[in-house]
Amino acid sequence: MSDLRVTDTQSFSGAEIGALLDRCFEGYAVPTRFTPEMVSVLARTDSIDPDRSLVAWRGEAPVGVVLWCQRGRRVRLGPTGVVKEARRQGVGRFLVEEFLRRARDEGAERVRLEVLGGNTGAIQLYEGQGFRSLRRLNGFRVDPARLEIEPWEVEPWEAEEVALMMDRRHPDAPWQLEGESVLALPETYRAVRFDSALAMVAETETRGVIRAWTTGRSADGVECGHRLLSGLLCAEPKRTWVFPPIYPSSVIRHDFEQSALIREALFQYEMEWRP
Ligand SMILES: CC(C)(COP(=O)(O)OP(=O)(O)OC[C@H]1O[C@@H](n2cnc3c(N)ncnc32)[C@H](O)[C@@H]1OP(=O)(O)O)[C@@H](O)C(=O)NCCC(=O)NCCS
Repeated sequence: MSDLRVTDTQSFSGAEIGALLDRCFEGYAVPTRFTPEMVSVLARTDSIDPDRSLVAWRGEAPVGVVLWCQRGRRVRLGPTGVVKEARRQGVGRFLVEEFLRRARDEGAERVRLEVLGGNTGAIQLYEGQGFRSLRRLNGFRVDPARLEIEPWEVEPWEAEEVALMMDRRHPDAPWQLEGESVLALPETYRAVRFDSALAMVAETETRGVIRAWTTGRSADGVECGHRLLSGLLCAEPKRTWVFPPIYPSSVIRHDFEQSALIREALFQYEMEWRP
């Protein structure tokens, strides 16, 4: 669209980008607030590049944003949105086209993204630009009824070791489960281990979030996973443990899901574009 132009996001403060993202995610299925703290955490965990991230402008008004994440020649199309009053006017298409043109020019080997399974508008936008769906990323709740709850001793571990094992055991993990993301998690997360099962977890009084998870391949690995969950549950039985919807079936295998977890309705598709 000829009345649109783009700039990078370098001149925006964290608070300004957060405020623009808040407007662009108005009405989103998962209510999200992009506080300056959250923007800075995202910048680190997702490897966001402010020089390459794009803001779309109509006249003097910012109307859309797409954040550019980069690791080597691998690029991820990060949080993307258009302010409510400018939707369905070609701004999203303009931004994604511009993003992919630049990715191609810069020699990206691939661009991936994640999109909520029910976000049909966004999925159509991405498919229209040549993205194809690679796999589903699922979220889960731990089902205490199916675990033998015993106070297995959960060892404190090193985030570096969890990151290393994520990369070694899951070389094609989604962006947010790559070692680099794991290593950059904020201090609210701690590394834990039971034998071959490793995880990064964060807890409040009532809720625990498992933000990285790997058990190893053998049947033994599944058992270690059960014991790790069981140990975490024992520490505070009222806490509900959840896996956010970032896990492919190569990381949370079917046998483990069947024996310990309840699949949440919310899921994402991971999509890929190649130049
Ligand atoms: C998804 C979003 C970025 C699309 O931006 P947009 O500027 O409205 O999209 P465009 O006008 O450029 O539409 C381009 C194509 O996308 C598809 N599309 C976009 N919105 C759609 C909708 N609500 N329903 C169906 N298709 C839609 C259509 O194929 C459209 O082509 P068409 O207009 O020729 O039919 C915007 O709706 C938004 O910001 N939503 C909230 C945040 C969000 O969901 N972000 C995506 C996170 S992964």
